Amino acid sequence: MEQSFDALEKECLACHKCALCSTRKNVVFGVGKTDAEVMFIGEGPGEQEDIKGEPFVGRAGMLLDLMLDAVDLGRDKNIYIANIVKCRPPHNRDPLPEEQDCCIDWLLRQIELIKPQIIVCLGRISAMRFVDPDIKITRQHGEFIEKDGILMMATLHPAALLRNPAQKPDAFADFLKLREQINRVCEHTY
Ligand code: URA
Repeated sequence: MEQSFDALEKECLACHKCALCSTRKNVVFGVGKTDAEVMFIGEGPGEQEDIKGEPFVGRAGMLLDLMLDAVDLGRDKNIYIANIVKCRPPHNRDPLPEEQDCCIDWLLRQIELIKPQIIVCLGRISAMRFVDPDIKITRQHGEFIEKDGILMMATLHPAALLRNPAQKPDAFADFLKLREQINRVCEHTY
């Protein structure tokens, strides 16, 4: 029998598989609708996420929420948001490959239970895992590929957009493409 989502979360909150558990304040499991047809996958929690135990609640998260809202998506409404690693890497460094390998099974199990039609990778680290290990995100963002029956697309990370606002129109164009794909393949998102 399939494990329930709540049981998976409970198990994850007690995880001690890698060293990040010793510096975390909270495990950031994920947020949103567990029947979502669209999943967003970021890299790992930052300071605010670590404090609150929820993904994308800092400045980058506020920008993400604005872009989501512009295409009628929202974490309280019709999507699920999670990260490649569930615990904050110290000083917001990139999660190490071994930390990602240790943690990825939680995310794969979330995907297995949610069964999304579409996965949107936020930034390079997530895109390397799901779209293409050699991805050049500045060139390949907004391109949809299908893997195991799931449409996958990488877009620019909202934290990168805060650093380089000139890229915001490119990211917004990705969200408009996402809306088209949702209209094409999803049944109850809109
Ligand atoms: N950046 C991420 O990739 N994930 C978060 O949850 C917050 C910031």
